[in-house]
Amino acid sequence: MRNQLIDVRPVAGGIGAEIFGPDLSEDLSEEMVAAVRSALLEHCVIFFRDQKISDVDLARFGRQFGELAPLPPHRQFPGKFPELLVVDKKPEDKLNFGWEWHSDTSHLEVPSLGSILVAKIVPPTGGDTFFANQYLAYDSLSDGMKKMLSRMRAVHSNGRILRTLAEGKTPPRGSESMSADWAEMWATHPVVRTHPETGRKALYVNEMHTERFEDMTVDESQPLLQFLYEHSTRPELTCRFQWEEGSIAFWDNRCAQHLALNDYPGHRRLMHRVQVKGTAPE
Ligand code: SIN
Repeated sequence: MRNQLIDVRPVAGGIGAEIFGPDLSEDLSEEMVAAVRSALLEHCVIFFRDQKISDVDLARFGRQFGELAPLPPHRQFPGKFPELLVVDKKPEDKLNFGWEWHSDTSHLEVPSLGSILVAKIVPPTGGDTFFANQYLAYDSLSDGMKKMLSRMRAVHSNGRILRTLAEGKTPPRGSESMSADWAEMWATHPVVRTHPETGRKALYVNEMHTERFEDMTVDESQPLLQFLYEHSTRPELTCRFQWEEGSIAFWDNRCAQHLALNDYPGHRRLMHRVQVKGTAPE
């Protein structure tokens, strides 16, 4: 669909669109920013190709959608500004960043609105990123399940990530009680959140961060959580993005989950990312 300023071409039935028109190395007009925002709100993730942008351009583009979220000091990159995340998997590295389905920083009280990722170096094949539409995940639940989940909250943490990094491998699914021992940060959020801009309801649990339901044990929570993880990432809710140097993905963490595929051993993949600050999920 062409909306005068940009050409928006959906890439799958459930989520994602490629955007043609804007040059993100330039200051965008208000109308252009509004057109890009509207495409993001409609498609949950939008993609741009062949963009030649510096880190400063990336930050300027991000700031047109809100304040950027600075990284914790240990994640900041020397010589770069505090909001720039460098995602660098070297040929000898085994783990990759974002290896499981997740919504960015859901272990924080105020998780990010969205993330903007630009590809600097890509492997010859592989290294794609999957996205899943969490509005459709919610919409396709039964009325009974929607009603039950609407009263529930879930506890999210960074324990599974820290445990994986410490042990060099991903703990088995459902071992969140062990992961909880590793966690440094927790936040509790509604299981179904209402998107502050579209007013639509989206499922908001993810296998990388969610430990359990509030007021329930890990063992009690895991069967339903495992069902929701499968349900929320069913193939028909997803799209798969194949990166080229200069590709950009901008996803809305309030209604999309994503997963970075780790299928390029022996090759480097270098990406730069900024995150736009969000609001506490409601
Ligand atoms: C992430 O932000 O989780 C990483 C996504 C990617 O590297 O494709």
